[in-house]
Amino acid sequence: MEVVIVPDAAAGGELIAEAMTALLRRKPDALLGVATGSTPLPVYEALAAKVSAGAVDVSRARIAQLDEYVGLPAEHPESYRSVLRRQVLEPLGLAAGAFMGPDGAASDVQGACEAYDKALAEAGGVDLQLLGIGTDGHIGFNEPCSSLASRTRIKTLTEQTRVDNARFFDGDIKQVPHHVITQGIGTILQARHLVLLATGEGKADAVAATVEGPVAAVCPASALQLHPHATVVVDEAAASELKLADYFRHTYANKPDWQGI
Ligand code: PGA
Repeated sequence: MEVVIVPDAAAGGELIAEAMTALLRRKPDALLGVATGSTPLPVYEALAAKVSAGAVDVSRARIAQLDEYVGLPAEHPESYRSVLRRQVLEPLGLAAGAFMGPDGAASDVQGACEAYDKALAEAGGVDLQLLGIGTDGHIGFNEPCSSLASRTRIKTLTEQTRVDNARFFDGDIKQVPHHVITQGIGTILQARHLVLLATGEGKADAVAATVEGPVAAVCPASALQLHPHATVVVDEAAASELKLADYFRHTYANKPDWQGI
């Protein structure tokens, strides 16, 4: 995998938005896999700025959701479908028809998971999947010890993740659902390009385990080591536990300009 160390979150957002822009110029109807949480926001802001400036046409772009709470109605303000409408679709000027995601309110949850995996395949697969990382190394909502071959399915959140996410529910952990639908690690690995963004010191241990540790289900993000095109973009704080930081800086600084990430 490639590791790019950037000065701060805004620079990470700009770098990834640039990669999305290059993809959309090559393939105007690209399927972008998007993530929720605080980390991806600089990416969405930088991409929306490029769209406003006329640097890229996103009118044919398609957006795919990574994970969703089970049991929240789609219109709930904290359903990830609602969050992504506010953070991605509306700023990019995309209609609801450009969006695909699992139905977190389905009575047949297993059926909804299988239907989503099938829909992703029928849509031609995800071209670029943006990922955050949990402090426990999760990607999507694949918590530690998730199967590295898993498909989209229901998962139970760890208490730590519910605590981390309570800030979106008035700080009240009781409102945070226990269950989620998440693309599996095997599903995520099918995207053509994986781009993981991590910022802040709180992610430093998880980043080190992802990049320099063994491939192990205990750190789900370490599965990125199995992907032929995975890019890990980290700010200085999130890179602070990387033993090979100088090597990563050197290789990125000497990369051919045309290559991009
Ligand atoms: P965060 O969440 O960006 O809000 O830290 C990341 C994640 O849990 O994947």
